This record gives sequence, C-alpha cells and structure tokens, in this order.
Amino acid sequence: MPDKKVIWIPRRLSDATLERARRDYEVIVNEADTPGTAEDIIAMSQRVDGMIPCHSEHFSADVVAQLDPRLRIVANHSVGVDHCDLAALKAAGIVVTNTPDVLSDATAEIAMLLMLGAARHAIMGDRIVRQGQWDSWSPSFMVGKQMTGARLGILGMGRVGRAFAAKARGFDMEIHYHNRSRLSPEDEHGAIFHADVESLLDVSDFLSLHCPATPDTINLLNADRIARLPAGAVVVNTARGALIDEHALLSAIKSGHIAGAGLDCFKVEPGGNAAFAAHENIFMLPHIGSATRATRDAMGFRALGNLDAFFAGQEPGDRLV
Ligand code: DGY
Repeated sequence: MPDKKVIWIPRRLSDATLERARRDYEVIVNEADTPGTAEDIIAMSQRVDGMIPCHSEHFSADVVAQLDPRLRIVANHSVGVDHCDLAALKAAGIVVTNTPDVLSDATAEIAMLLMLGAARHAIMGDRIVRQGQWDSWSPSFMVGKQMTGARLGILGMGRVGRAFAAKARGFDMEIHYHNRSRLSPEDEHGAIFHADVESLLDVSDFLSLHCPATPDTINLLNADRIARLPAGAVVVNTARGALIDEHALLSAIKSGHIAGAGLDCFKVEPGGNAAFAAHENIFMLPHIGSATRATRDAMGFRALGNLDAFFAGQEPGDRLV
C-alpha cells in the first residue's frame, strides 16, 4: 500500500468531504477555519503534495514564487479562481483545478432570492414587521417592481447564468443575454443574444451578473453602463464584487435610477460595503451563493475527485492549468 499523499485543507469543508479526505489522504485541516494567509500557504507547501483552498486563500504571483516544489496541485473548492494567479501557477508547474457545475443551481437560487428581495422590498418589509413598526396598510404601501413578464438581462451565460435563466423562465421573464460566444439554439431556449454589453443593458429591467472576475471584467458595471440601464432597473450580483463599481452603484441607488440591488458579493470580503447599509433597497447577503449542504458536499467531492485523478496519474477533469 503506497503512502498516502498529504493534503492541506485550510477551511472547514463539509463533514462528508472531510471524512472522505481523511479516508484517502493524510489531511492537515485548519480547525480554526480562518483564511489561510500568504505565510500559511508558503509554509504548508513544504509539508503537502496538494491543497484544497477556497476563494479566501490568495495565490498571488508573489506567493507562488515562494512555494516549495513539493506542492503539485491546487484543487480549488470554488469554481471562481480569481484568487489564483493562474499564469504564475502554470509557470511554477503546479496544476490548478476548480469545481464547475456543482454549484450552479444553488447560486442561481440565491440570485433569484436577491432579485425578488430587491424588487419587493424584502429588507424594509421584514424590518417593519419584526420591529413592531407595521401600523398601517395602504394600496400604495411598499409597492415594488414585478418580475413576471419583465426583461431580464444576464451578463455571462455560463453554467450559473444558464441555471438562473432556467429558473427565471418559471417567472415568464423575457430573457436577454450577453456572452463571449453565442449559445446554440438548444441552450438558448429562446433567450435573445446581444453581441455587446451595452445593447444588453439597454433592455435590462433586471440585470444579473454571472461572469468571472478577470482583469477585463473589473468594474464592468461602471457609471456609464449603469446609466444605460432602464430607469428603475434592479441589479443582482452573485458572481464577484470586482465586477461592480460600488461608488457608481451607490450613486445610482441614491438618485433612484436603480430601484434596487441584490448583492451576494462585494469588493471587500468579508465585510462588504458599509455605505450600502443605509439603503434598504439594497438586499445583501454574505457570499453564500453556494452555501447549501448538498452543494458544499458536491464541491468538496469534486475537488477530491480532481486530486484523486491527479495522484492516480490521470488528467483531472477540471484542470485549468
Ligand atoms: C465559488 O465557488 O466561486 C463561490 O463563490 C464560493 O467560493
């Protein structure tokens, strides 16, 4: 029986994931569940053959330059890999994988929650009932924006974008999208393709972001683009905080041009944007798009599957570099 490979798990993954990991590997777990620092990552690279980090562990070029050659694979628990300098990891000969597919539905569910919550004043409604402030009712009370039949713009029609479109079809929304490449008619399911972002924005009564954070997509939703959205639009972001110019979004919320926003991601995480808190039409969650039991197990298992393949001398299914 060959010696078990040694892996580092810096965050508290699901019980089922840890059980399987311990069965097949010698596992070092950060029981404190604190984000792994650059120093942690560098030190651990001397002790382990592989790692299962989350998006909270940052593999910058500087960190990668200091990794010990013992580390051979970074099998991310996340689908997003903006915390990894892929070029640097590739140059260092370290294999990198992620966990596509398995979190698409859970993330699409949270996008739907955020869209509904922002459109129908969930924060204000909850607050006035919870705090005993509900002392009147009127037909003009808490009137929101209807999703049924409205135009939904999806920016990024990858796996999560498509899962979200499927759920939005249940609300009879008219689905528009922009993607680097147009989907096949079977995958479009009648969604209307826009070759450029601007033309998508022009028709997006609701806009939901589903693209990765890359150097090209930082502040993709800036002041000029927000201005193109129809007056009273609702913006939803379950992808990455980097995609939105938060100052521009706040200005548009203050002016009323944007009626509401539903945000699961922020420029600064953890923490979010304190300036948003004064606006109850911004419905906020703490980056929990994929946080369901079933999905956490599936993410952990997908990451372990990639490790298993790699250490068995096979190509990991989700290899990025
Ligand atoms: C992902 O997988 O990218 C989610 O945002 C959680 O990290």
